[in-house]
Amino acid sequence: MWDEVKRLGAKAHETRIEARFKENSNRAAEFGLHALGMLFDYSKTHLDEASRAALVALAQTAGVEAKRDRMFAGEPINDTEGRAVLHTALRNLDGGPVLVDGEDVMPGVRATLDRMAKLAEHVRGSDVTDVVNIGIGGSDLGPAMAYLALKPYADGPRCHFVSNVDGADIADTLRTLDPETTMFIVASKTFTTIETMTNARTARAWLDDRGVSHEGRFVALSSNAEKAAEWGIPADRVFGFGDWVGGRYSMWGPIGLALMIAIGDKAFRAFLRGGQEMDRHFKSAPLHQNMPVLLALTGIWHNQVMGHATRAVLPYDNRLARLPAYLQQLEMESNGKGVTIDGDPLAENSGPVVWGEPGTNGQHAFYQLIHQGTRVVPCEFMVAAVGHEPDLRHHHDLLVANCLAQSEALMRGRSLDEARDICAEKGFEGAELERQARHRVFPGDRPSTVLVYPQLTPEALGKIVALYEHRVFVEGAILDINSFDQWGVELGKELATSLGPIVTGEASSEGKDGSTRALVDFVLRHRE
Ligand code: F6P
Repeated sequence: MWDEVKRLGAKAHETRIEARFKENSNRAAEFGLHALGMLFDYSKTHLDEASRAALVALAQTAGVEAKRDRMFAGEPINDTEGRAVLHTALRNLDGGPVLVDGEDVMPGVRATLDRMAKLAEHVRGSDVTDVVNIGIGGSDLGPAMAYLALKPYADGPRCHFVSNVDGADIADTLRTLDPETTMFIVASKTFTTIETMTNARTARAWLDDRGVSHEGRFVALSSNAEKAAEWGIPADRVFGFGDWVGGRYSMWGPIGLALMIAIGDKAFRAFLRGGQEMDRHFKSAPLHQNMPVLLALTGIWHNQVMGHATRAVLPYDNRLARLPAYLQQLEMESNGKGVTIDGDPLAENSGPVVWGEPGTNGQHAFYQLIHQGTRVVPCEFMVAAVGHEPDLRHHHDLLVANCLAQSEALMRGRSLDEARDICAEKGFEGAELERQARHRVFPGDRPSTVLVYPQLTPEALGKIVALYEHRVFVEGAILDINSFDQWGVELGKELATSLGPIVTGEASSEGKDGSTRALVDFVLRHRE
């Protein structure tokens, strides 16, 4: 099927995107999917009926549906680690049993959720003013992204997220806090991550140094109850989850505790419900009407078929400012692999580089390259129909207009003749007119998709996050990648461990390469 998709991809540029709308007045309806109250518009791409059908066939041939069913059935599809992939169980609020090794995990999931809710309500009703979540990667990005996204619903204590081992992160956070009214969450699936454990120890010392007992001030979110106990956090303050929840898929369970404390149990469950609705849609909708599948197919089309190495995620929603960073881990840690499940070299490119910033800010920064640079960057816009600031409706109108304008501009571009007219109006003439006009040409015919949702509510955020999770799954399944391990993060961790005593001067840098030695020398000399 790849051959057929690539054959169609090679001739896709023969018809400009804009011309496709002229040829087919129904194009927007045919290449736009309404589901779960949202609209995913992928009509401003080079996809046509034939290429979409070929991509759907590619997904079928890759066994996407069977792989999806194996995931939901709790089979160990993360087979380099021998683990099931069942983050969906964390939001299976009113669904049936979910079996792992023949055992239903749902009673445990519900009991943990209820315990989280009890603690969250207790904290919300206490004198705690600030909660610091200490975690990194999947134990940080999800709750940090969602806390900002759902600010209008945050009526509990303020939350802070400390992740970086750079002491600046925790120092700048603690400086603003009162030790008497601050609570710490140590979020780490493994409870061994060096950054998190270093920051947690610093937080404990901060309390000790101020004569405030750390008893009852720490909570642990981890799969490793033993390590949490060794660290001195009693079992009743440890919230566990199974190894069938991957770090970057974990915000739906205990790792979401900071969010739950901020927005309350009810809103948190609405977030879960949104995710569960997307799961149901993903499981039941036919591939050609399945939102995560179509989002994945546009991704495969742009990245593996058309050869564009990156994709920009551009939320026109300032509260989704951390979404691109969240998606960078979700997508790049999942599908940034070099081999297939069987260990053979990938025949296609791995998942793309994902990047982005909220609109309209990005427009005044990097959109220049998106519009006129020589590399094509497929753009994924998203925007809410309604904002949360009714008194500032005119702001939201401008936001929506800008989002839609960017998508339109990428498609239309501006021809040399149009640019000449503009320059003539400005009074340019002759060779100078020609030179000026060339600077004002936009090639256009650049693809983008737009996701529109009614409002950024907890439920909508749940749908959006689950949409992207399943998109990653489908792309990984088509590329025959294990999207659930992350061996690529290991080597750097190992080398950092060996460099630790070298940068303190306790061990010699002998045996390291010349560059590393020169860099270490510079650091050591500046410490003398
Ligand atoms: O280094 C990568 C990683 O393992 C991520 O996959 C994970 O989300 C993050 O580190 C944090 O891990 P933990 O939750 O175990 O501290």
